Amino acid sequence: MTHNSPPTAYPATRLRRTRATRWSRDMVRETSLSPANLIWPLFVTEGEGVEDPIGSLPGVSRWSVDGIVARASEAADLGIACIALFPNTQAERRSQDGAEALNPDNLMCRAIRAIKAELGDQIGVLTDVALDPYTAHGQDGLVDDEGYVLNDATVEVLVGQALNQAAAGADIIAPSDMMDGRIGAIRAALEAHGYHNVQIMSYAAKYASAFYGPFRDAVGSSGLLKGDKKSYQMDPANGDEALREVAMDIAEGADSVMVKPGMPYLDIAARVKQTFGLPVYAYMVSGEYAMIEAMAAAGAGDRDAVVLESLLAFRRAGCSGILTYHALHAAKLLARG
Ligand code: PBG
Repeated sequence: MTHNSPPTAYPATRLRRTRATRWSRDMVRETSLSPANLIWPLFVTEGEGVEDPIGSLPGVSRWSVDGIVARASEAADLGIACIALFPNTQAERRSQDGAEALNPDNLMCRAIRAIKAELGDQIGVLTDVALDPYTAHGQDGLVDDEGYVLNDATVEVLVGQALNQAAAGADIIAPSDMMDGRIGAIRAALEAHGYHNVQIMSYAAKYASAFYGPFRDAVGSSGLLKGDKKSYQMDPANGDEALREVAMDIAEGADSVMVKPGMPYLDIAARVKQTFGLPVYAYMVSGEYAMIEAMAAAGAGDRDAVVLESLLAFRRAGCSGILTYHALHAAKLLARG
């Protein structure tokens, strides 16, 4: 039905007519969800043969590099397009300046190389650019004496971090730090170093959200974080500002953009898609995952149905894909049909 169709009235129009049978519902369905729309975030930890469950994310674990390769292989077999890596850096490797982010043998780089050696182009590897898994203060950038996160000095380090990840074999660089100007700086550096086909997926509209708690446990930054991230992440009250963030990142060379968190921000995802028409992704974040798991654990809903409905809603809003801790489970459900 188009918006300019003539007004019609019951009983000539019965919207229930096309809903009456399964085949008809299948025929008029406007959007679809497939494993190719899913990006699976995975947490890497040191050691070998390690699976370390995350208390605030029931069903999600940190894996040592060998386990990460096994998970990536499982995901590829199910048709999941891409995985997203986050390191739980050892405490003694965290510092005021987050220098471990530049170490070519850090946990991230070892995980990237191991996955690429085993799986090649069977699955994409997306890597997060931000300093919070590496800093002793848990902020995403370099801080001054008052704890304010410095923009331009941070961007310089992020460029080094992005090049480090690209050298290890990352397919998509995903800056989640929200510094101004970092997309342009990273794009220029990737070009200068010959990484012409390394994509940038910008966390363009990333909000200062209360839904990130379990993630900060997972990467081990929650106990360290002093203050909040409101001087760089966006105010949940703002929508127009998200469009300005996206416009800047596109102009600076982003290939795709992300909106984060997911479900409470579907309006933002839809506006970004309608305004710019580029691939838009949404991150259904750790707190959203935990909410669904808590609901299911309380016997308050059908977990599988809630997961699939939530993911489909992102597709309806216009998202090309969703970063979700439910990715593997959802892909298995989709495979079963
Ligand atoms: C950090 C980063 C965060 C997430 C992804 N990258 C947390 C934060 O900004 O504090 C959150 C993801 C989630 O909650 O699942 N740069």
